[in-house]
Amino acid sequence: MSDRPRLLPLLGATRHGSRDAMTCLYRCGNACDHPVPNMSDNAYFGDVVNAEVSRRGVVRAGAVGALVLGFGGAVAGGAPAAAAPATPVVPGAAGFGRPDGGVGSGALTFKPVPPNTLDSLVVPNGYDHAVVLRWGDPVVPGAPEFDVRAQSAAAQAGQFGYNNDFVGVLPLDGRKRALLVVNHEYTNEDLMFPGFTSQDALSVEQLRIAMAAHGMSVVELERVDGTGQWRPVTKGRRPYNRRVTALATKFELTGPAAGSAHLRTAADPKGRTVVGTLNNCAGGVTPWGTVLSGEENFNQYFVGGDAVAEEVKPKLARYGITTTTRYPSGSRKWERADERFDLAKHPNEANRHGWIVEIDPYDPESRPRKHTALGRFKHEGANVIVARSGHVVAYMGDDERFDYLYKFVSDKKFMKGNSWVARRHNLTLLESGTLYVAELKQSSAGEIDGSGKLPSDGAFDGRGRWIKLVSGNRSYVDGMTAADVLTFTRLAGDKVGATKMDRPEDVEPSLLTGKVYVALTNNTDRGRAGKPAADEANPRNSNKHGQVLELVEDRGDNAGETFAWSLPIVAGDPADPSTFFAGYDKTKVSPISCPDNVAFDATGNLWISTDGNALGSNDGLFATAVEGPERGHLKQFLTVPVGAEACGPFITGDNRSVFVAVQHPGELSGASVEKPASNWPDGDYAKPGVVVAWRLDGGPIGS
Ligand code: FEO
Ligand code: CA
Ligand code: CA
Repeated sequence: MSDRPRLLPLLGATRHGSRDAMTCLYRCGNACDHPVPNMSDNAYFGDVVNAEVSRRGVVRAGAVGALVLGFGGAVAGGAPAAAAPATPVVPGAAGFGRPDGGVGSGALTFKPVPPNTLDSLVVPNGYDHAVVLRWGDPVVPGAPEFDVRAQSAAAQAGQFGYNNDFVGVLPLDGRKRALLVVNHEYTNEDLMFPGFTSQDALSVEQLRIAMAAHGMSVVELERVDGTGQWRPVTKGRRPYNRRVTALATKFELTGPAAGSAHLRTAADPKGRTVVGTLNNCAGGVTPWGTVLSGEENFNQYFVGGDAVAEEVKPKLARYGITTTTRYPSGSRKWERADERFDLAKHPNEANRHGWIVEIDPYDPESRPRKHTALGRFKHEGANVIVARSGHVVAYMGDDERFDYLYKFVSDKKFMKGNSWVARRHNLTLLESGTLYVAELKQSSAGEIDGSGKLPSDGAFDGRGRWIKLVSGNRSYVDGMTAADVLTFTRLAGDKVGATKMDRPEDVEPSLLTGKVYVALTNNTDRGRAGKPAADEANPRNSNKHGQVLELVEDRGDNAGETFAWSLPIVAGDPADPSTFFAGYDKTKVSPISCPDNVAFDATGNLWISTDGNALGSNDGLFATAVEGPERGHLKQFLTVPVGAEACGPFITGDNRSVFVAVQHPGELSGASVEKPASNWPDGDYAKPGVVVAWRLDGGPIGS
């Protein structure tokens, strides 16, 4: 291991919920201090009590996944001319190879990592790990080596950005090369700039450095000597290496709201081109070899909400933008570097963020797109599956207390094969379709008292339906046009009575079973005076630890409009009676708190990373089977250093490598470059970084 395990006293005693106050400030603009944006009185759940849903049997392995994984592996290179890729393939397909066996064959035999507060990344015995990239590492050929005391926006625009979150790894050249695609969600100027005193004291150049440290990175990797370890390619042309930033990258708006009055600004009177992407959190790799990225807490970048027209204010407020003061707490003051962040001057600029972004990493010349057809909210991410009908379905969460779960079904069908025609066609799939929001009904409503006590039918479960919001240019919401619904999607969800959830974060379908898993991180406002009480899908008041929801579409049709749901995991200390691990023996499971991002390995095990562990341990990465007798046998696979959250998990399709993003190490109040709360990863000041873990004997991860 490259780092030195050591215990470090926690500097910051101030915490909001389970996160340090510094994380609250920088990551989401002190969202916990602001009122919950969803003040709607829509009757979530109503008083409908559904008949007991019979416990579902195990879905046959591969029944749905065959459609996705069986299309031959290779996706044709979409890159024109010079940058043509060497037969890219989607993860889990031929490029990484496939492990033997089907769903449930991958019993997780590693010895769990115990909860700890080490300033170190800890993996199980028999595994090793290495830092792949850290903040400041050169990405674009010619970018300078990082110097924390001589930073510039131009240098940062070619270097690995700050606070890596989503991680995707796309095969490039058989099993030896790959493209790493990473989100850079937000910056922490306290921990970036030596001598930091306040946001107001930052120079314009420092603000521009922060903008350049946001966005995404695409980096060519090579496998190390046939092992599960990967490292960046540091020599040669590296034509795919690329930075996308909040500072300069131009995005094209697509879909029904593109060009609408809501999206027009002085700089873009046609409402079709946006500079920059903000607060990119989680994401997903599509079956056609692109990456989707969610623009999440975009509200915190804007000031001047107090000066907009009165009729506009509710639309800003519903997205957490303060409309009563010029500078809300946590303001980044970016308007000093670029006036478009001042809503008093440019009231529509905020409407141009909060979208799902699609980037084609195989075509470095391609312009990334913001897809309005997938709605605008605090997008955690989007994950796609090809439905049996051939339409593609993107599942999405809106990460805010009491906000909603969504899905998008494309108008067009996925085209199989490797041809240029197929790839060009598939790149348009997210430009038109139907957007739905979820309503979840309860099977044991009368028994839900907010304590987390399991209902007498033995499950937190029920039925649900997808409520149609818009289809193409047609709105299904009274009083709202399609452009209204897509731009102010939260307001549309309020009107149709969507179910208020406990912070829906990553939502991802298993490509092997078609079942969908939702990380619901926490919601300490649940059940407070004036706030919605517990319900069967969000069964605990003052919910500190969160839960994982499993959604099974009726008839296995991911494009359908009805489903069944249940909670396989109600998180926390297994000794706490309010926890649940699919009925598995709780003395054998690892404690888990605040599930955030989810991923699957090649045998269908569910991997869960956490954000904000409220049990006193560092955050980490966990894995459990979701089918068969091992369902609910959750084990901790790694822990991240002090102050960090674990993000992005990605397991390569050959099950030989686990990637994880270590986000905001050392982010504790009072910390700085000079006085770091974490020395990870290099022994000096804290730097966010992406790590790969692998098995020393070359065997499959987890087993
Ligand atoms: Fe960026 Fe919802 O976490
Ligand atoms: Ca029930
Ligand atoms: Ca997250």
